[in-house]
Amino acid sequence: MFEEIKVVAIDGPAGSGKSTVSKLVAEKLGFTYIDTGAMYRALTLKVMKKNISFSEEEKIIEAAREMDLKLLPSVANANSICVILDGEDVSGEIRKMEITGNVKYVAKIAKVRESMVKFQRRMIKGLGGAVMEGRDIGTVVLPDAKYKFYLDASFDERVQRRFMELRARAASATREDVADDLKQRDHTDKTRAVGPLKKAENAILVDTTDLSINEVIEKIVGMINDDQ
Ligand code: DC
Repeated sequence: MFEEIKVVAIDGPAGSGKSTVSKLVAEKLGFTYIDTGAMYRALTLKVMKKNISFSEEEKIIEAAREMDLKLLPSVANANSICVILDGEDVSGEIRKMEITGNVKYVAKIAKVRESMVKFQRRMIKGLGGAVMEGRDIGTVVLPDAKYKFYLDASFDERVQRRFMELRARAASATREDVADDLKQRDHTDKTRAVGPLKKAENAILVDTTDLSINEVIEKIVGMINDDQ
């Protein structure tokens, strides 16, 4: 279905190094980087802004369908993307802890995931190549992707990475807060009835616990280049 477009699907839990690696792999290959987590985050923000309660599933589905969302390369930061929701730049806002904590309510709704999957498949049309990262890319969104990777790391290492990331952003969370949050997110991501986080059978598992970002990138890009 998607084999004619060169697509790299990268899935994995929070803190596995997925986002940093996906951006840089895309850059190395000259492919477009697509962050699907940003889409679920943007919808969560929209729902909160419209004062829709997370129990009002029909209204959330409606918001997902009418959402005008654009993911653009960031002018300010080459390693980042700019997220435009209904004409407004929400790139910073969607990364706030409050959004992170509430994404699970929208991400578990089957019809929301259906809209997202359709949108994500449309996004790669016409592209020379794409690196798409998320939780269900290799399993649901692009099951025919030529290259599939599943990134993982030990729980302690993932906590440490998230903690350092938040500290760099001057967020006040303690290591315990971060560990609790990750444990919860792993659980909700992996036990969701639709589109749960799962390694596709034919995805290559990359354990990033003892690898530097560069080593992971070399590994992934190396495998893709060797195959071409
Ligand atoms: O990758 P991220 O941490 O920015 O993603 C935020 C949340 O969005 C994550 O906890 C689960 C959800 N998500 C999802 O359900 N499906 C995806 N393909 C990507 C993210």
